[in-house]
Amino acid sequence: MPLDRSEYLSNIFKDGIFKDKVVFCTGGNGSICSAQVRALVHLGANACIVGRNVEKTEGMAKDIATARLGSKVIGIGAVDVRSMESLEKAVATCVKELGRMDFAIAGAAGNFLAPMSQLSANAFKAVIDIDLVGSYNCAKACLPHLVKAAKECPTAKTATPSGRIIFVSATLHYQGTALQTHAVAAKAGVDALSSQVCIEYGPLGITSNVISPGPIGGTEGMDRLAKKVQPGENPWKAIPSGRIGAVKDIADATVYLFSDAANYTNGEVLVVDGGAWRTAHGP
Ligand code: HXC
Repeated sequence: MPLDRSEYLSNIFKDGIFKDKVVFCTGGNGSICSAQVRALVHLGANACIVGRNVEKTEGMAKDIATARLGSKVIGIGAVDVRSMESLEKAVATCVKELGRMDFAIAGAAGNFLAPMSQLSANAFKAVIDIDLVGSYNCAKACLPHLVKAAKECPTAKTATPSGRIIFVSATLHYQGTALQTHAVAAKAGVDALSSQVCIEYGPLGITSNVISPGPIGGTEGMDRLAKKVQPGENPWKAIPSGRIGAVKDIADATVYLFSDAANYTNGEVLVVDGGAWRTAHGP
């Protein structure tokens, strides 16, 4: 049967597609994750963001809430993704205050530049703990709620499905990146973790995918990791798409993966980098 036009235009990237959905996001203070959450709120979702800094997290939640009149966005500070207990408490608060959890974004990350010769075992572990263990903790705490939501609202023509998780990774580990041993190892693990969630939770109605941003302008990651751009210089011209990424590029990929359009996309890595890693053009 050919696709009917009204069916095709029915449910994708339209005002209200995420109405009554709730998204939980670690690292929700950050430039990338806050843009991901904001896009979902624009399109009807309510949200819970968690972060380490109380003031910043609560402030960001208030700011995101202005995206849509009537939205509910809560910010829970003093949450360290390295602590399962801390995450479980935050997840419980999210479900209590917002009633459910349909989507999760494991976005919290930590990074700095250091040659391996200067990287202490503790520094390596700090990044593994935040990026990889933190992603595991987020998935582990959220999955029971996501499975419940997926059962209540499975893939159907009439409703946007529930029960989805996105891990925010990177492209650093595809070819290897100097000064990034810790993050390279952690993000390779994050990609593998997402595959495992797909394999074990796919049969329960969950989709698990990775978004791998390339260099994204105006982010803390770029401030920490990239060389300073001098006026008149365009260090991004070697990227096949000819520009540095924007947070909206990652928000768009997020909307896609949580929408009806991605019902059969599971266990995938969606690289959003303008083709940068293929030219080994890092930040
Ligand atoms: C060498 C360093 C270091 C540096 C910290 N360490 N900074 N070593 N060079 N610049 C070492 C410390 O000396 C210590 O080891 C160990 O790391 C732990 O440091 P703490 O400060 O105690 O840890 P903590 O407070 O938990 O901080 C975690 C952190 C920090 C990752 C180290 O940078 C952080 O909190 N970052 C969060 C915000 C962030 O990084 N955002 C950007 C994410 S961007 P010793 O041996 O002294 O005990 C991103 C994008 C990636 O992830 C993709 C890019 C394309």
